[in-house]
Amino acid sequence: MDWVALIAGSLLLLFCLAQLALWTSQSMGRQLSERSYWQLQQQLLSAKIAAIQTQSSSALAPAQSVATETAHSETTVAWRGWRTFQIKKLVRETASTTSVYLTPQDGLDLPDYRPGQFLTLKAILPNQTAPQIRCYSLSSAPQKSYYRITVKDIHGQASDSGGVSHCINWHWAVGDTIELKAPGGDFYLELSQREPAILLAGGVGITPLMSMIESVLQRGDRRDLLLFYGVRNSGEHIFRDRLKELASQHANFNVLNCYSHPGSQDVAGRDYHIQGRVSLELLKRALPSPDFDFYLCGPGAFMAGLHQQLTDWGVPVGRIHYEAFGPATVVPTPHPIQQEPIVRSSDNGSASTRVQFARTGKTIDWNGQHDNLLEASLAAGVPLSSGCRAGQCGACQTKLLRGDVHYPGAQPMDVAAGHCLPCIAVPRENSVGDEEIVLDA
Ligand code: FES
Repeated sequence: MDWVALIAGSLLLLFCLAQLALWTSQSMGRQLSERSYWQLQQQLLSAKIAAIQTQSSSALAPAQSVATETAHSETTVAWRGWRTFQIKKLVRETASTTSVYLTPQDGLDLPDYRPGQFLTLKAILPNQTAPQIRCYSLSSAPQKSYYRITVKDIHGQASDSGGVSHCINWHWAVGDTIELKAPGGDFYLELSQREPAILLAGGVGITPLMSMIESVLQRGDRRDLLLFYGVRNSGEHIFRDRLKELASQHANFNVLNCYSHPGSQDVAGRDYHIQGRVSLELLKRALPSPDFDFYLCGPGAFMAGLHQQLTDWGVPVGRIHYEAFGPATVVPTPHPIQQEPIVRSSDNGSASTRVQFARTGKTIDWNGQHDNLLEASLAAGVPLSSGCRAGQCGACQTKLLRGDVHYPGAQPMDVAAGHCLPCIAVPRENSVGDEEIVLDA
């Protein structure tokens, strides 16, 4: 009996070992084939980039990497609410763009953030009493002692119309203090991944991508990064020297500069590689296939155009990552969203939901003409504060006095009880169909 049990046990053990060996060899085979696929993609990518750069000039061709290993840890520790920061340094990047280095007044170490995320900032402009809230992408790799943002003056130097970006460029001084919320946002590069990333920037949209580039290279990662950077000419070429320096130091980082209107002093090969815009035709020339992850940031037309062209080329929407804060950078209908029912006009043409603004005494019909309650309220002349317009900074948070809302396109961050975020909220239809929303605005 003992012999039978011993033989049966041995056979069972042998069977288990055979299964384990089979699973291990299949898993290793899968990993090896995935690795060789990406190695092949990287070789093809490098050859294509080299060909394009050679056509222009060898001035910006990459040299041997001298990356240094830097300790890095991702933490989620941050602060809640506002924290006071001081302007430590201001660096003019172009005639209308300034980098601002911000250090915490309490002197404590700063939490890491994910490269691509943004800061929410509260500033009081000269001759104003109400604070203005804006969101700006962090433009460097995470540092323990400072955050850096890079801001373009969208109002123009000669303008006296004010505006936060204008104030930052022309009125802020070293030593000034401002209030910041902790970094946030869903647009970031996952540093644990190793697949090549294709970065597409237009104008000041380079800022979150610069943070991605510096983060990968500062860690000494060998992940391939290819940046297509579109600007008008060298006068608007933000981080020109820094990008050129990084490309010369890191073999895994390449840049293709596209000038739509080169100036008389701009030299092909030295300043730019392509005369024209970042386009699908250029991407097809430079990439061996659409089988990459794409990260986009730039003006609205740049984003919307490239997003459409990439999807037409066959890039799955899940592999197209984009900055979505601010009205200028939102891509229309980028993802198929599972929509909950949105209140629409009833069959007889009359609206079934009314939105009341208690403070201003205004009332509007919610008829589906607007994407969210913030748009509807601004169109009605009800002034609501806003920052990110993506449900992430809390600037638009408003007390909901009656009724209910829902968030069909994005999940809000923290929302205080009894409040809502109008920038991403729409009225929730009740079972009867009639509803009334009352906002404390
Ligand atoms: S504007 Fe940022 S959460 Fe609404």
